Amino acid sequence: MARQLDPYALLADVYDRLSRVESKEIAAEYLVRRLKGLHPGRTISVVDLACGSGNVTTALLRHENVTVTAVDTSASMLAIAEAKAQRLNQAVSFVHSDIRQLDLATPHDGAVCLSFSLAYLAEKADLLQFIRRLGANIRRGGLFLFDMIDRSALRSDWFDIEAKRWQSVGLSARVEWTDRAAGAYRIEYSRDDLQHGRVFEHHHGRAYLESELVTAFTSESYFTIVPLSALATSCATPHLRYFLAQRT
Ligand SMILES: C[S@@+](CC[C@H](N)C(=O)[O-])C[C@H]1O[C@@H](n2cnc3c(N)ncnc32)[C@H](O)[C@@H]1O
Repeated sequence: MARQLDPYALLADVYDRLSRVESKEIAAEYLVRRLKGLHPGRTISVVDLACGSGNVTTALLRHENVTVTAVDTSASMLAIAEAKAQRLNQAVSFVHSDIRQLDLATPHDGAVCLSFSLAYLAEKADLLQFIRRLGANIRRGGLFLFDMIDRSALRSDWFDIEAKRWQSVGLSARVEWTDRAAGAYRIEYSRDDLQHGRVFEHHHGRAYLESELVTAFTSESYFTIVPLSALATSCATPHLRYFLAQRT
C-alpha cells in the first residue's frame, strides 16, 4: 500500500546530496557584501529563511562578522543543517518554525530565502502574511535576497534533467499543474520500498511572476525592490530570478 510522508521526510538526505552549492555561495557572498556596505565595521545579523539542509547558512558563516539565525519547518532538514554548523564549529540559532509565523528575538540586518522556497507559500494570502512578519523582523533599511523559479522551467527540459538527477539516487519526481493559469504546481517525489511498498510526498508551490512579487512586496509599503543585475549574471542559474527587497 502507498504511504504518504510529510514534505522532506523522504527527501532531506537526498536533497542535500544533490544540492548545487556554488550559486548559493555566490548569492550569500553578494548579500553579505551589500549588508556590510550598509554597516561598515560591525557584525551583521542575517536570517536564513527556509534554510533546509543549511547550505546557505554555512555559506553565510564562512564570512567574518556575520551571525545567522536559520528557520525551517522540516525537522529532518534542520537536523542536517545543525550537524553542518557544528562541523564548522559555528554558533547558529536554529528555529523550528514556519516562516509565516516568523518571530525573532531581535530584528535582523538582513534575510535570505533561496532555491525558490518562497514558492511554498502557494496562496497569495500566505505570501502577504510572510511579508508582514518579515517586515516586523528586519531593521529599517535591511535587505532581503530571494529567488523565484520561472514558470516555464517547471514543464521543460530543465525539470526532465532534474528528474533524472533524482532518479540517480532512487527517487522519481513528477510535476503537474494544479492551477496552470496561476502557476500553481504539485511535485510528487516517490520511492518504491521493499519493506513499505511505495512511499511518496507532495510539495505544493506556486511559481510567482515578477510582477506578482513586486506588487506583494511593495503593497503595504514595507519594502521596495532594488536592482541586483550583477548577481543574476554571476549565479548563472537561468531558470531562477533573483530579487532584492529593502525594508523601508
Ligand atoms: C528547496 S529547500 C531549500 C533549502 C535552502 N533554502 C537551500 O537553498 O538550500 C526548501 C525548504 O523550505 C522549507 N519550507 C517550506 N515551506 C516552509 C515554511 N512555510 N516555513 C519554513 N520553511 C519552509 C522546507 O522544509 C525545505 O527545507
